[in-house]
Amino acid sequence: MKIAPSILAADLADLAGALAVCEKGRADWVHLDVMDGHFVPNLTFGAPVIAAIAEHTRLPLDVHLMVESPGRLLDDYLDTGVRSVAVHWEASVHLDRLLRRIHDRGAAAGVALNPATPVEVLTDILPQVDYILLMSVNPGFAGQPFLPYALDKARRLRGLLQARNVHAEIAMDGGIGPKTIRQAAQAGVDWCVAGSAIFGADDAAAAIDNLRQHAGLETA
Ligand code: DX5
Ligand code: ZN
Repeated sequence: MKIAPSILAADLADLAGALAVCEKGRADWVHLDVMDGHFVPNLTFGAPVIAAIAEHTRLPLDVHLMVESPGRLLDDYLDTGVRSVAVHWEASVHLDRLLRRIHDRGAAAGVALNPATPVEVLTDILPQVDYILLMSVNPGFAGQPFLPYALDKARRLRGLLQARNVHAEIAMDGGIGPKTIRQAAQAGVDWCVAGSAIFGADDAAAAIDNLRQHAGLETA
């Protein structure tokens, strides 16, 4: 199980400190939650802040765009040299075109799905997708409780990927902690985003490793 800490749950006045925690805890990449106050009822940061973050870490950056019209500022995010960008299916009228634009710039292309959006909407686009970010909370805030029906979506998505012989990764985002990461692993999830479970812990760097270890444990 790979772990992507979400710095949304860190001290936003100390992003360099949050990045140091991610490096110390050997995070696989850093998850950046971009919110526009329209697609979700919250506003976070944009491309200039991501460019500054990129200067402060060698870890790959994963951008989660919770914005209306994700194509509008897409090039600004890609200009910062991030590893991957996920757009929301619900916000993307021309999803195929957006994924091509991400690939053309050499980044991995992800599609995020709200909890209420069935995985089957992706059936035809799956061969163009590098990863699917299954939301296990309603996007907008860190620290919300995990929605268990996301696990069934992961299992169904795993089946769809196998049926189409597509090797996209399944990621889960929201309410991930020691218990839910184990359930996610067993449902076929490849990597998890975690915010509060890491940055709310006394030892945030150790919490990253702790999550990884829990993912490998059998459910009692
Ligand atoms: C929710 C964000 C998540 C969130 C995760 O809108 O997309 O990435 O920050 O935070 P936790 O792990 O606290 O649910
Ligand atoms: Zn996110």
